[in-house]
Amino acid sequence: MPDLPLLFTPLKIRGVTLPNRIAVSPMAQYSANNGYPVTHHLLHYGKFAQGKAGLIFVEATAVTRTGRITNGCLGLWEDTQINAFKPITACMAANGSVPAIQIGHGGRKSAMQRPWHGNGPPGAEDEARGDEIWQPVGPSATPLDEGWLKPRKLSETECVGIASDFADAAKRAIAAGFKAIEIHMAHGYLLHSFLSPLSNFRNDRFGGTLDSRMALPVLVAEQVRKAVPDDTPLFARLSCIDGGDEGWSMDDSVALSHKLKNAGVDVIDCSSGGNSPKGATNANLKRGPGYQADFARRIRHETDIMTQAVGFIRTGEFAEELLQQQKADIIAVGRQYLYNPNWALHAAEALGLTGDFEQWPVQYAWWLEKWQKGLKSSEQWEL
Ligand SMILES: Cc1cc2nc3c(=O)[nH]c(=O)nc-3n(C[C@H](O)[C@H](O)[C@H](O)COP(=O)(O)O)c2cc1C
Repeated sequence: MPDLPLLFTPLKIRGVTLPNRIAVSPMAQYSANNGYPVTHHLLHYGKFAQGKAGLIFVEATAVTRTGRITNGCLGLWEDTQINAFKPITACMAANGSVPAIQIGHGGRKSAMQRPWHGNGPPGAEDEARGDEIWQPVGPSATPLDEGWLKPRKLSETECVGIASDFADAAKRAIAAGFKAIEIHMAHGYLLHSFLSPLSNFRNDRFGGTLDSRMALPVLVAEQVRKAVPDDTPLFARLSCIDGGDEGWSMDDSVALSHKLKNAGVDVIDCSSGGNSPKGATNANLKRGPGYQADFARRIRHETDIMTQAVGFIRTGEFAEELLQQQKADIIAVGRQYLYNPNWALHAAEALGLTGDFEQWPVQYAWWLEKWQKGLKSSEQWEL
């Protein structure tokens, strides 16, 4: 029996074993009802579970109501929301996937428009559609850009309170059946805006030096670690660089990863950008296949922590290559999953692991196997 491809070699993190190293990257659906999931969420996440993704991250879920990025973002800011997530976690678990969730706070980008309404600051048209607009909070009273909402600067006491909000949301996530938690420290949202000198102009416990800019994200990691069972894997997603000549750098990300490891984080999920209006979702990087994977490689090698690579990873062969090159321990796939919810099953086939639909849901496999044979024997047909 030849060695399994790394992509399909199980990975144990604390008490949880991922059946493969394929993660569905967190992808906001902007469709929640006052923080509560709707039918779309169950179908959306259920498809990936049926498609045998090893680890499925539920999208950025707000730890406070005003920490929602948009009016359509999910939330776990109150206990009544717990039960609403249970069908999603149950569906993932029943199909063999590990249910995971990203918890976050939008910071100065909170209350922004859904992508298809403009992806910018909210305005009268959004209010007319029924969306609420509220004043966001941030490390400083500096908006993302001209025309964006001016955030209110958080006091030191409020910063400590934010760490408790993350811890409380993490407890609720565990009660809802999630087995792994990711803290959102990327893309210009609250925790990233504390890290970056482009957005943090404080001079106190939570800003000034690099160490004090890192203090709130590290406190959040410590509090979340304490709030969840010991056997729960904890991930942190970083924007490894801000993307311009100035701002948060790779050296800073390495320093932070050391601290997060000490705080009990198990995996650094390596993304980039989002803290400036020009790269609202990503850094000013030349995007090509695996364009962020070298961030994952460097953090993995310099801090001896597991990493997750993400960004334009489209084929099973390429995902396997990144793992073989020891750039990361887990491969997260985003838009390719929207395109093909059976991505893991197709990757298994491409890597020669299965040719007879053995890993597909039995309800499909029985038919597809015969269908394929039929197709082969009918190649002479004009279709
Ligand atoms: C529809 C959509 C929603 C997203 N929402 C989130 C999110 O909630 N949290 C996050 O960290 N990244 C989010 N992202 C970024 C993805 O997780 C991923 O990092 C990015 O799309 C790059 O990977 P890809 O090239 O495989 O799509 C989102 C991306 C898309 C396309």
